[in-house]
Amino acid sequence: MKESRDRGFLLQIATVNSKTAKEGQRASAMAARKRGASKQPPPPTESHPKTSESAATSTDPQITPSKPSKIIFFSSIFFLPYLYLIFYHYRIETELKKSILINASLSFAGFFITLMMIPVASRYVLKRNLFGYDINKKGTPQGLVKVPESLGIAVGIVFLVVAILFQYFNFTSDSNWLVEYNAALASICFMILLGFVDDVLDIPWRVKLLLPSIAALPLLMAYAGHTTIMIPKPLVQYIGTEILDLGWIYKLYMGLLAVFCTNSINIHAGINGLEVGQTVVIAFAILIHNIMQIGASSNPETKQAHAFSIYLVQPLLATSLALLSYNWYPSSVFVGDTYTYFAGMTMAVVGILGHYSETLLIFFLPQIINFLLSLPQLAGIIPCPRHRLPRFDPGTGLLTGTKDGTLVNVSLRIFGRRSEKSLCILLLILQGVGCCFCFFLRWILTGWYK
Ligand code: UD1
Ligand code: MG
Repeated sequence: MKESRDRGFLLQIATVNSKTAKEGQRASAMAARKRGASKQPPPPTESHPKTSESAATSTDPQITPSKPSKIIFFSSIFFLPYLYLIFYHYRIETELKKSILINASLSFAGFFITLMMIPVASRYVLKRNLFGYDINKKGTPQGLVKVPESLGIAVGIVFLVVAILFQYFNFTSDSNWLVEYNAALASICFMILLGFVDDVLDIPWRVKLLLPSIAALPLLMAYAGHTTIMIPKPLVQYIGTEILDLGWIYKLYMGLLAVFCTNSINIHAGINGLEVGQTVVIAFAILIHNIMQIGASSNPETKQAHAFSIYLVQPLLATSLALLSYNWYPSSVFVGDTYTYFAGMTMAVVGILGHYSETLLIFFLPQIINFLLSLPQLAGIIPCPRHRLPRFDPGTGLLTGTKDGTLVNVSLRIFGRRSEKSLCILLLILQGVGCCFCFFLRWILTGWYK
């Protein structure tokens, strides 16, 4: 049943591919770009054109969501504790609750709009030959399908519209938050642009690493909040003060956090569903953290900072879930660097403005491990191939870890060969365990650390 659905879906993709094939040849300028040129050998084999030809006679190509019902079902299980905290566990002011719920409603609408936009955007990106081959299906018919790339652009646009419209319902015109909120949106928007530029132009690695520091400029320049940090209690006696003003170093730290969050999501990737899946898990943990902080705090400024964070994370989560329903195994679309950069930047921005960057970094534990494992290759000490993905065996359908230093490969080496889907689930469970560990750590350290 599931297999036939997958096959049906592939047929639809093939329809899109065949229709766009002729236009694709004409658009050769784009064709040479990264997706087509740099990925895999030219695809056509005997079986593929056959599928395309038979499907080409059908009407307008349509990419249907593969698993929206599953996504809605699983995410509702996770949303239950969130709603419980908002409505029952904590006594949150009605005004604040109202804003959060308005934002949630807009985000919910964003979810459906993204669901509708992705198939449309897929047709357009395929027309411009912005596609990739699924490397972990190489050697099977699925490996020959041109998968539309950079669908993060649709997600980013819906996110921005939701976040911009929300201001109408929440902020008064003289609100101080308005400046930082819009600066945050400018940074996210700039990041989406640069991510898309990277997807289209395939920017070299070392340049690409720096793109987020450029995109973070609007936020860094507009940031008028405090630049102080609270010294952990055990260190106060050595430093001699409880609060330390870091001045410009604080802004440098903000910029570095943006660079880390974006790139670390981007390099923990390459498995169907992993880029979006990790974002969804972290975003969900951020939401829970924010609501716990709002519930536990009596300081209006702290509450406002965490509410601000919720206003950006809810739309991120909703639009990402829509993308996940297309990107989950077997992926019908790829997210592109547009998405990884956009998601990383949004989470960095909320961590910075919500003043919980340490917690955010612990949520990013798997990404930190992946980054440390990657360092020798990123630094050029060990050769770094264009793709550091596992080896796929078309016979068994299983992935084997290679020597490339990534968490994906190390997990395969530790837990043994497995299918792409089960590897993605394993990595997402690890991500979830990391987030739970963070909550546990915060609980243990409260009162002792800060
Ligand atoms: C980063 C990683 C690279 C990894 C790639 C996968 C580093 C330094 N770079 O590069 O090792 O291979 O992400 O995204 O760690 N793809 C799949 N299946 C997927 C997702 C992507 O096969 O589920 C392939 C497709 O061919 C797709 C391409 O990866 O077109 C996208 O790669 P891109 O995002 O451009 O790679 P980088 O971010 O540069
Ligand atoms: Mg990428």
